[in-house]
Amino acid sequence: MAFNEPVLTKRISTDPDKRKLHWYDDYVATGGYSALRKALDLQSDEIINIVKESSLRGRGGAGFSAGQKWSFIPKEKKGPHYLAVNADESEPGTFKDRYLIDYDPHQLLEGIAICAIATQCDIAYIFIRGEYHKQAKILERAIAEAYAHGIFGANGILGSKHKLECYVHRGAGAYICGEETGLLEALEGKRGWPRNKPPFPAIAGAFARPTVINNVETLCCVPHIIERGPAWFKTMGTPSSPGPKLYGMSGHLNKPGVYEHELGITLDFAINELSGGMKGGKYKAAICGGISMGVLGTDQLDIKLDFDDVRFRGGCLGLGTAGMIVMNEHTDMVLALRNCVRFYAHESCGQCTPCREGSHWMRKILDRIIDGYGKIADLDMLMELEKTMGIMPGTTICGLADGTAWATRTFINKFYDEFVARCPEQPAGAARSITLPVNQRSRTNVYTPMGSNTR
Ligand SMILES: Cc1cc2nc3c(=O)[nH]c(=O)nc-3n(C[C@H](O)[C@H](O)[C@H](O)COP(=O)(O)O)c2cc1C
Ligand code: SF4
Repeated sequence: MAFNEPVLTKRISTDPDKRKLHWYDDYVATGGYSALRKALDLQSDEIINIVKESSLRGRGGAGFSAGQKWSFIPKEKKGPHYLAVNADESEPGTFKDRYLIDYDPHQLLEGIAICAIATQCDIAYIFIRGEYHKQAKILERAIAEAYAHGIFGANGILGSKHKLECYVHRGAGAYICGEETGLLEALEGKRGWPRNKPPFPAIAGAFARPTVINNVETLCCVPHIIERGPAWFKTMGTPSSPGPKLYGMSGHLNKPGVYEHELGITLDFAINELSGGMKGGKYKAAICGGISMGVLGTDQLDIKLDFDDVRFRGGCLGLGTAGMIVMNEHTDMVLALRNCVRFYAHESCGQCTPCREGSHWMRKILDRIIDGYGKIADLDMLMELEKTMGIMPGTTICGLADGTAWATRTFINKFYDEFVARCPEQPAGAARSITLPVNQRSRTNVYTPMGSNTR
């Protein structure tokens, strides 16, 4: 492991006052688009093999091999191929893609163009979250520059045989549109409801055509891999999680922000060396990669932030986006979990019963515990519910429900005593009366019997 210099943020000053947005001229003056020229001399398969060899894993949450994903696109072309760039970035605690777009949008466009050559893609759509107004405008201007300089457009990428169009598509503010098939539905102008797989997007994605879906940060790694080679890329990080990574550090920290380092640094290093240490009290917990991944506990400061250690030793679903929300000793973990579950209940698209109903039941149980009416049996009920929901138990279409489950599981398991302390056994006859729902969305604190559909 050796991280000697910033890679993805090499053009972004660490001094906030000196940061500037790099438009086309600045980008080219600092070596930009030279990797694209190099890629144009390679065959599609050669590019895919280089990216495969680098072991680049997706930075959008799942950590899937980018080169492998590209290789699933059929070689024989029978119609258009698409690239959907995932800039939805709605996972709580995650704000790294915004940083890349804010200061270095052409790095992303170069990654897009190289991916397009590798996968014979005709049109790239950058799906950006609705709230990123400023970033959508930055991208639109950068794309216009790229058209003007022959990167995109009918004349082929820099005059080559590869023709690529590129558009920004703005989301409307739903978290579920970050899930790749929900994104494709939204791109097609429909409600962002995730699709059952198979077929996988590489075979039938946008408009039922072969489609690659990659996160912004993943694509930003690509020009560097082409320019400097897979062996160089693997000098950073760990053998199974190589390369640089943006860590989005927030919460009770002295210096919250986006920091670039290699994969595999410890949580302790991320807190104390990158983010200026804890603020307002000692370390207690850290949500590791967006709340979908679960929480790292008090005794887990030595966990390595890579795709495997967080999962196998840390007991979480994975590293996710490495959007870390760090909490100090004064944090109420019951309230924190209720906040997470409330988010999932709100964002569930409603197609699958365990997710649609389960997340609302969980929120209601947590509301009850917080109001002082909880019982130990409620904790058992929460744990029973979380086991039934998600693509892992095979009961839902997408992973949003797994996020609800892993947040609940890890918070309760790792901070069990705190949850128990909030559940005094009630004296006989003191059970809380139940008010039937009127409109759950407007009367959020009305308790309803489990099993009633209140949405
Ligand atoms: C509920 C949910 C929300 C997601 N939101 C995002 C997102 O905002 N951005 C993102 O890149 N990936 C998101 N993902 C992961 C995508 O489905 C997909 O794995 C990713 O975009 C693939 O790109 P990558 O291989 O480059 O990581 C989400 C997944 C789920 C289940
Ligand atoms: S798991 Fe939840 S968000 Fe995903 S498709 Fe099912 S209901 Fe929708």
